[in-house]
Amino acid sequence: MSHNIVWHNAAVSHNERQQLNGHKPCLLWYTGLSGSGKSTIANAVDRMLFDLGCHTYLLDGDNVRHGLNRDLGFDDASRVENIRRITEVSRLMLDAGLIVGTAFISPFIADRAQAKALAGDAFIEVFVDTPLAICEQRDPKGLYKKARAGEIAHFTGISSPYEAPLSPDIHLQTAALTIEQAARQVVVFLQQHAIICQ
Ligand SMILES: Nc1ncnc2c1ncn2[C@@H]1O[C@H](COP(=O)(O)OP(=O)(O)O)[C@@H](O)[C@H]1O
Ligand SMILES: [Mg+2]
Repeated sequence: MSHNIVWHNAAVSHNERQQLNGHKPCLLWYTGLSGSGKSTIANAVDRMLFDLGCHTYLLDGDNVRHGLNRDLGFDDASRVENIRRITEVSRLMLDAGLIVGTAFISPFIADRAQAKALAGDAFIEVFVDTPLAICEQRDPKGLYKKARAGEIAHFTGISSPYEAPLSPDIHLQTAALTIEQAARQVVVFLQQHAIICQ
């Protein structure tokens, strides 16, 4: 890094932003298999929080790969860089006082640990826990069918491992929950931890 780059302190403090927003910032890091329900639940949570007057933003896996991370593939180094960029963007949004959601498979414990290390206390790991058989049955994008046919390499759950969180902050067992119930569980967590007060 250049020695000529000096951090400029912000005129508006985190506390001031928090007071204006009426809530604390946090990073809801959804992790789970493809088709587990990350995007669906994260969007339902976003809707609920928005309707409560919270300032939120959701970074979704596929959407980010269309733009910011369009140059990245799916090899190990690219996956690490994918997470690093997402986390850095999330940090900027946390700095702006937002409740940020990220919906990426993020299959490796080490990568999520890296995100947690960068985001600090604001990091909330949300395990969207759906058995592989159910994800495969849902197959909302037809990807499992392709993966089983050998058309997609390194597909999480089929030909690449998924390392489940050992102690997630929020554990959503979607086989036993409606989308609404799962989203409600996240919102209640934020209320119980005084991140939002509504
Ligand atoms: N209880 C549930 N929670 C989340 N999604 C569910 C549930 N029941 C059924 N689904 C369906 O499962 C699919 C999950 O897809 P998606 O949210 O795109 O998964 P991901 O983002 O994890 O790849 C959606 O079609 C959703 O409607
Ligand atoms: Mg998704």
